[in-house]
Amino acid sequence: MKAVQVKENIYWVGGIDWDIRSFHGYLTPRGTTYNAYLIIDDKITLIDTVKHYLFDEMLSRISSIIDPAQIDYVVSNHVEMDHSGSLPRIMAVAPKAKIITSPNGEKGLKAHYQGEWSYTVVKSGDALNLGNRNLTFVQTPMVHWPDNMVTYLGEEKILFSNDAFGQHIATSERFDDQIGGDILLEEAGKYYANIVLPYGSQVQKALEAVSTLDIEIIAPSHGIIWRSQIPSILKKYHKWASNATENKAVIVYDTMWGSTEKIAYAVENAFEAKGVSTRMMNLKVNDISEVMTEVLTAKYICVGSPTLNNNMLPTVAAFLTYLKGLAPKNRTGLAFGSFGWGGQSVSQVEDVLKGADFELMELIKLPYIPGKEQLEETTKKIEEGIK
Ligand code: FEO
Repeated sequence: MKAVQVKENIYWVGGIDWDIRSFHGYLTPRGTTYNAYLIIDDKITLIDTVKHYLFDEMLSRISSIIDPAQIDYVVSNHVEMDHSGSLPRIMAVAPKAKIITSPNGEKGLKAHYQGEWSYTVVKSGDALNLGNRNLTFVQTPMVHWPDNMVTYLGEEKILFSNDAFGQHIATSERFDDQIGGDILLEEAGKYYANIVLPYGSQVQKALEAVSTLDIEIIAPSHGIIWRSQIPSILKKYHKWASNATENKAVIVYDTMWGSTEKIAYAVENAFEAKGVSTRMMNLKVNDISEVMTEVLTAKYICVGSPTLNNNMLPTVAAFLTYLKGLAPKNRTGLAFGSFGWGGQSVSQVEDVLKGADFELMELIKLPYIPGKEQLEETTKKIEEGIK
């Protein structure tokens, strides 16, 4: 397998994971890539590695340019194993290589691999001379692990951003002008919603830190390399990091006998009547990672569940656990559902939405099978509550 030239003497040498469909639970219908980059200078540098099972692919791409034993530095921007999983094997074939990483990177790598490797620990602003070019490092803690950093190659105006600006897409194309922009931004949004969303304030700090850099290429560790649409992806990151929302309602629900679904449609009718864009997301057919992609930009989050064994349905509980962890802010919540006798589910749903600091609309709870009039009244009541 061959390396792909990014600029003269700078190559993509990553691995393409065509088959992956679940990335620790996040559905990845388009697969993904783990991007590693090789810089040829007086000092030969590898930036990040790939998931362990794609080591041979990475090695083959590196070997199409140089003998891997010549590698002087391996920059580890992030400890997570999709980027460090091949470190033990690359260090075995590149015995003179030093690992360049952040203070938390060193701790994390030692705790993962116990390898007796030579480390150079770098902090924000530190530089490493490669001969004709220099790498500069910027720590970006909690975007999305404590060890994260990005690496900037000033002479070439390339930012190696690791997870930031990534997307889960497996393609043979490597650059943003080679595939559709809509797909790219959709996948970048899904990635942000499912991985980066809890860390908006840290993302804002990272965006501020890199705003002083002159960037022509953003080379992330997943998916496509940005070179033509950098203003678009930066604009999106600013928006997502600020928790800015659109006039959109996501109606997420599961149903046992169809009654909670009837209420879900009554909720949808209300938002539609008020000119709010709606997304109906039945948890029987939508994965929670897909729901989160819509939640990313939605002002209204409406969650419905009937009561089963004094509880909400497990599918709804799973979604709410995921939502709570990803912690979107500045949203309005609405809990709804049908019930037979106990009816605990709706207030349980509402408790979670309240715990997430959502502004609450009045909950909707209807017994057994709601009739046409009840549903119309429900729609009217919700319409009145939409600001
Ligand atoms: Fe792509 Fe946080 O690893």
